[in-house]
Amino acid sequence: MHDHDFAASDYVEPDRVRREIYIDPQLFELEMERIHEQIWIYCGHATQVPHSGDYCTFQLGRQPMIMIRRADGEVSVLYNRCPHRGAMICGNHQGNTGKFFKCSYHAWSFRHDGSLLAIPMLDSAYEGTGWGADNPDCRMKAAARVENYRGFIFASLADEGPSLEEFLGKARIALDNMCDRSPEGEIEIVPNCYRVVQRSNWKIFIENQIDALHPSVTHQSTGAAAREIELEIQKKTGEAPLSYHMLSAFATLTVEDWNAFETKGYPYGHTSVGGYMKLRPRDPESLEYERLLTKAYGKERMEEILDVPIHHMMFYPGLGIQPQLQQLRVVRPLSVDRMLTEIWYFRLKGAPEAIHQRALDYYNLVNSPATMINADDMENFWKCQQGLGSKGNSWVSFHRHFGHDLEREGVMVSPPDRGTSETPMRNQIQAWKKYMEA
Ligand code: FES
Ligand SMILES: [Fe+2]
Repeated sequence: MHDHDFAASDYVEPDRVRREIYIDPQLFELEMERIHEQIWIYCGHATQVPHSGDYCTFQLGRQPMIMIRRADGEVSVLYNRCPHRGAMICGNHQGNTGKFFKCSYHAWSFRHDGSLLAIPMLDSAYEGTGWGADNPDCRMKAAARVENYRGFIFASLADEGPSLEEFLGKARIALDNMCDRSPEGEIEIVPNCYRVVQRSNWKIFIENQIDALHPSVTHQSTGAAAREIELEIQKKTGEAPLSYHMLSAFATLTVEDWNAFETKGYPYGHTSVGGYMKLRPRDPESLEYERLLTKAYGKERMEEILDVPIHHMMFYPGLGIQPQLQQLRVVRPLSVDRMLTEIWYFRLKGAPEAIHQRALDYYNLVNSPATMINADDMENFWKCQQGLGSKGNSWVSFHRHFGHDLEREGVMVSPPDRGTSETPMRNQIQAWKKYMEA
């Protein structure tokens, strides 16, 4: 397949897609070019690099990148590549580079914004070559565009395209809600993250995240085991800790219950699943938290903030945000059948310790690689990738409740009482088609 004979419409129909989009390495390269190395991609959170010289590294599409806090307080996003002979400048996930970067190979050095500071023997060895501080080829290249939305840093490698604000659109309610849950309106990342490499195409993961039918099937046994213990504790002490509910909800909610929650599809491919957990417990710490929020925002706004019904917002093409529990997962595709997730969570500035503990519990019990929930999903991801390699069928189905999707103010919404509809996946595949046609 060559770029010029590629037509996205050959691969995506309104209710189904060709299996090749998950298994063809050439299509993967094209996706990196037209999606991941074009549109706004989440780099990291500003609180990962609080001090001058702090940096972290990550993958943006196929590009190794660096996010760094400059001496002037701003954040730069640079290609992690030395302009001399191509060595990566930073080999670690994170660190502090001091006042400048220095390449470990031949000691070229660069300021925080990537501009050239010095080349050894510049005067004697490079005379007449055109190499020097005035030559833009001698700097570490910066991402074309970088923007900060309430501490969430995004970059785009394309000079042109929608602004970050337009790209996030109404879906940014999830980012706002995560921050608004802090009495100070700010969040702070908790170091460090889990990194999980999984053997599946990146789209299999993002389709799963907003699939409201799979929990009651895939996670049934894990949920049921937690439910058993939850009941035992309830019998003994009257009430089990909230953390049991985080797992048991997977078993106690029926398909009808899941159907009662809305799923949505936003422009540019973002998708969401409604909130399903009961997260307004009446213990003293939770009440204290509500008192602090009321003091900061007033009672009405406090209620509004705590009742935003979003369990999960999946920003296309790979940023998962769970505002109620301050969770963040980001997908870094590695190849057509491999991807990495970075799994993080946040502390709400000014909130009681118990609220932080609740986020940590969810992080460990549901999102971490140590939990059975993650293992349940991981097995499906691997099975999907293997199965899609078979010639058993050329198409992948997204027909669940097809033909009944609604539209509300530019947002696709699952039909009433059909929250398990494949509405959000249909939104994702249409976005894929649009990006890939470009
Ligand atoms: S490769 Fe970086 S200084 Fe030579
Ligand atoms: Fe799952």
